Amino acid sequence: MGRTLVLEASPRGEESYSIRVANAFIHAYCKQHSDEEILRINLFEKELPTFDAAAAEGKVAILYGKEGSDRAKNRWHQIEDVIAEFKSADRYVLAVPMWNFSIPYVLKHYIDTVTQPTHTFVRNESGYEGLLHSRKALAVYASGGIYAEGHPMDFQKPYVRHFLRFVGITDITEIEVGPMMGPHEIREEAVQKSIQKAETLALGF
Ligand SMILES: Cc1cc2nc3c(=O)[nH]c(=O)nc-3n(C[C@H](O)[C@H](O)[C@H](O)COP(=O)(O)O)c2cc1C
Repeated sequence: MGRTLVLEASPRGEESYSIRVANAFIHAYCKQHSDEEILRINLFEKELPTFDAAAAEGKVAILYGKEGSDRAKNRWHQIEDVIAEFKSADRYVLAVPMWNFSIPYVLKHYIDTVTQPTHTFVRNESGYEGLLHSRKALAVYASGGIYAEGHPMDFQKPYVRHFLRFVGITDITEIEVGPMMGPHEIREEAVQKSIQKAETLALGF
């Protein structure tokens, strides 16, 4: 038994293509692992602590082994709650729409909240080291267009991958959903293909 944290970065609920594919994956996965706990967070509904001057001060204080002011400590308690929830998972499923060639701002806010020294990464002589070992992630990427690997305007897939690897999650499975633009039939055909892929990948996840 384990816990899967599902991070939905689309505000479109059941109409969201990335969430539809993520749901198909989770459904297929749970058929095999009926005792898996699924913790679902829609990032448009979650209240995250503002990453303000106090938060930045707290981060720098940790990096340099200092104590930090009271306002930094207060803000940091809120940030640590989000980090604890993030770290409580064994598996991650991310439903990620492309917004302006990158990711929706709520996911960036979440990443800014959980990517913290001593909690999810450390800095040592050889550079940075992620601390979330032995976890795996599925990232579902939806986009209006199609962005082949290495496309110069794709800041969605490379950024999500980089974030996951940076915090130590190197076992990453990916599914693209697109093109999500144009006639309904084209979009439905594309999403059905991705759903099939999700159901297959869930068997070996
Ligand atoms: C604010 C916004 C910005 C978008 N920017 C892009 C973009 O830069 N490139 C692209 O291919 N599609 C873009 N799209 C289309 C979405 O990626 C597409 O509708 C996708 O299905 C959204 O994911 P979802 O269905 O899970 O919400 C954008 C959509 C919105 C709402």
